Order: sequence, then C-alpha cells, then structure tokens
Amino acid sequence: MYVSMKNILQHADKHGYAVMAMNSINMEMARAGIEAAQEERAAIIINIGMGQMKKHAHLEDMAPMVRKMAKRVDVPVALNHDHGQDLAFICDCIRKGFSGIMIDASSYSLEENIRRTALVCDLAHAKGVGVEGELGHVGQAASMDDENLDLYTDVGQAEEFVERTGVDALAVAIGTAHGNYPKGKKPNMDFERLKLLKKALHMPLVLHGGSGSGEENLRKAVECGINKVNVCTDAFAVCKKAMEDVYRDNPGMDYMHLCMKAEERLKEYVKQYMRILGASGRY
Ligand code: 13P
Repeated sequence: MYVSMKNILQHADKHGYAVMAMNSINMEMARAGIEAAQEERAAIIINIGMGQMKKHAHLEDMAPMVRKMAKRVDVPVALNHDHGQDLAFICDCIRKGFSGIMIDASSYSLEENIRRTALVCDLAHAKGVGVEGELGHVGQAASMDDENLDLYTDVGQAEEFVERTGVDALAVAIGTAHGNYPKGKKPNMDFERLKLLKKALHMPLVLHGGSGSGEENLRKAVECGINKVNVCTDAFAVCKKAMEDVYRDNPGMDYMHLCMKAEERLKEYVKQYMRILGASGRY
C-alpha cells in the first residue's frame, strides 16, 4: 500500500526500529525493495534524488511506476524525494504524487535552513506529504566530513529547528558521511549525541550515509533512536557486483538476465538489511 512517509516513520519511532530508505533509479531496484518489504512484512521508503531524476530516473516515469508497485503489496511503501533543494522541483514531486520530501537546506545558516524547511512543510503537509529536514550537515566520506565535529547536529539548535519548522523527521549528523569510506574504515558514530537528540526531540530521526556503516553501528544507531537509514552507494554496488559476477561466469548472458540477477541479489540484500534494522515482521 502506498502511504505518507510520515506514517511509516511514526510507526518506526513508536516501536523502536528503523526503516530502510533505498535510492532506486529504475524498475529493478524499486521492485527489489518493494518485494523484499512484502516478503519481510516490513515497510520501505523508495528514495530518489534530484540528480538521479534529472539524469536517468525521470520523475514522471518513476512516480507512477513506484505508486503502482506499492499498491500491489499490503505493506507500507513511501516514495521520497531525497535531498530536495530546488523549490520548483520539490513542488513537481508533490504534484506527481511523492509521499515524502526531504528538504536539505543544511548548507545554509540556521535561519535560512529554518525558512526553507518551514516553507516546504507548509506546501507538503497541505497534501499529506511527510517532510524530513536536515540540521548539522552529513557530508562526503571522500572528504572525511564524518570526522568534522563542526558539522555534527547541535541538540539545542535541533529543538529550535523542529519547533519552528514543523518537520516530521530530522536527519542528524552524528559521524556518518555519504559514499565509500576509505578501505577498512568504519565510521565512528557519536551515539551519546544521538541519545541526547532523541531525548530532546521525541521524533523520528534519520541516518544518512548508511553505506559502509557496518552491522554493529547500524544496530546501535537503531537502539539509540534512528528510525530511517538511507542507503545508496552500497545498493548500487550490490547490483553492479551481481552483474559483474554473472557476466564473468557467463559472458554470453543477455542484458535482461543480467538485470534479473541484479534485482534478485538486491532483494536478498534489502531483506537482510531490514532484519538488521529491526524492520522485519512489523506489519
Ligand atoms: P550512501 O550513498 O552513503 O549510502 O548515502 C545515501 C544517502 O544518505 C542518501 O540520502
């Protein structure tokens, strides 16, 4: 069933687990996520960023397709615009039926972040669409932003931000970053800060840069209050490796069968991820 991202996140917050939000740029990825959710009796959020939609996974193609797939299953599915920054594009996503918007104004000053986020909340909430904001800044693993304490979310500012914007969920910077970490590195997450944020805000909290976090960090993050984990890099890597493996063993395999293998492998990966986050068996 197709639902507002807000409903999914409230349920996860109430019951103390996290939902996987997977960036999906085609039919195979979206279907792998949604079928994994159905088989695990879990919710899922299909994430798509603006760059991904402009370059390849076009908004007008993806939105109706994901909604249609969602209506075929009886577990909750949301479609979220990941890292929305352009107001006109955000409005397009709402018009085309997205059920979640992440407004990322985290590179601006606190005041400007609040102004932009509050505006998106007004527009999205009028259509029943859930909104996630970001305070502090989750940067790039390649530039070691995960270790830059200046980017971490401040608890006092977070209280003010939530109160003045009306967001339904908050992405927090607690030591993860987007993309691949250097080989062998696992992020050093600030769980004490996460606990303080949860205690102060009592609302769904979001972890960006889920890739490469490691199972132990993920489990602990959920225990300390994370309710949504964004995964992009690792999901793409699972699909790519599945295709490489199959192609190496069988270079004659055609494109359709390569796509089918990638979908199959991704579905298993998502199911496993859902178990780690405690999302399985919740519906
Ligand atoms: P990764 O690519 O590091 O998994 O980050 C994904 C993300 O946070 C998307 O918003």
